[in-house]
Amino acid sequence: MTQWDDSKAQAVSSDITDESNALPARYFTGQDIFEMEKETVFGQYWVYAGHANCIKEAGEYFTRTIGERQLIIVRGHDGNIKAFDNVCAHRGSKMVTDTPMTDSGNARRIKCPYHLWTYDLEGDLKSTPKSFEEASLNPDLEDEEVQEFDSKENALNDVHVDSIGPLIFVNLSADPMSLDEQAGVMKDRLEALPLGEYEHASRIVSEVECNWKVFSSNYSECDHCQANHQDWIKGISLNESELEVNDYHWVLHYTHDEDVDDELRIHDEHEAQFHYFWPNFTVNMYGTADGYGTYIIDPIDTNRFQLIADYYFEDPELSEEEEAFIRTSRQLQEEDFELVERQWEGLKTGALSQAQLGPNEHTVHRFHQLAQQAYNS
Ligand code: FES
Ligand SMILES: [Fe+2]
Repeated sequence: MTQWDDSKAQAVSSDITDESNALPARYFTGQDIFEMEKETVFGQYWVYAGHANCIKEAGEYFTRTIGERQLIIVRGHDGNIKAFDNVCAHRGSKMVTDTPMTDSGNARRIKCPYHLWTYDLEGDLKSTPKSFEEASLNPDLEDEEVQEFDSKENALNDVHVDSIGPLIFVNLSADPMSLDEQAGVMKDRLEALPLGEYEHASRIVSEVECNWKVFSSNYSECDHCQANHQDWIKGISLNESELEVNDYHWVLHYTHDEDVDDELRIHDEHEAQFHYFWPNFTVNMYGTADGYGTYIIDPIDTNRFQLIADYYFEDPELSEEEEAFIRTSRQLQEEDFELVERQWEGLKTGALSQAQLGPNEHTVHRFHQLAQQAYNS
């Protein structure tokens, strides 16, 4: 009964996940871990920001918060997408109001409302208020250093940005590994599909009472499906399901019992694919809809996360079938929320210091290993 032994929960040792064993429970429940993850997880890896089709025109932008960082993701005049901290180079004011990608804003320039420093879409400072230019409001206090600035040196702080098809990712690290390296085979597979031809059609946002990693672990396995998603598994052959585990990415493939009409799928294979991309993003290729979905699993604090579920179809006006499809997806989410909240109630009692993963839980194991690797970095 080693998993009940407190000494197991002291630290992540270099080999604690070598066996099919789990990250100690305190890495889910500890308040200090949430703070550490801002740096070691969300400050280091590529994190999904949003969909390029939501900012098609130059000047269209949305904001994205990752840990403490508030970013503006904007389409530049050259057509490329850029990401900046939503923080003014003058005295640090937040500049644009929170703007979800589903309701993107449009600006020719980014103007800080505090003293009207104004930046172009490259992030360079383009104008300052008249008082700066005249700089003679109080000559007795004139200070050469305070007034000297140029547009490049006072540019917005830009953040690494890259894409897989229309999916935009950002990286807060100064010197990140490439997105190609982190995404591996997932990048090739997704880029082989016409994801960019599909438009955002629906978003469901939920706040759930449990640590984000509990939900991520649950998403990564389907051993719980038989008991908990009874409607859904009726049409699925779990026996023919297949796990595939890559460096920062894993996939659950499911075969449909009945042949699904080819026209009902964006991808060719007779299966559904549920991709997980470390740390907190999923791409869901359904077998029963000509569309796809994404989940963003954003931590709010140790005890809560936000699930943002987005759905993409050829036409953003949903058909009845598509609406029914989204209702089914929502039902699955709600069933999972119940499971993870119940698991969270148990975990946070502190009774279990370390879980024991089952022999088929390779994907969960990979997730826990990546967390350990991040914490140790
Ligand atoms: S803080 Fe932005 S213009 Fe002053
Ligand atoms: Fe589930």
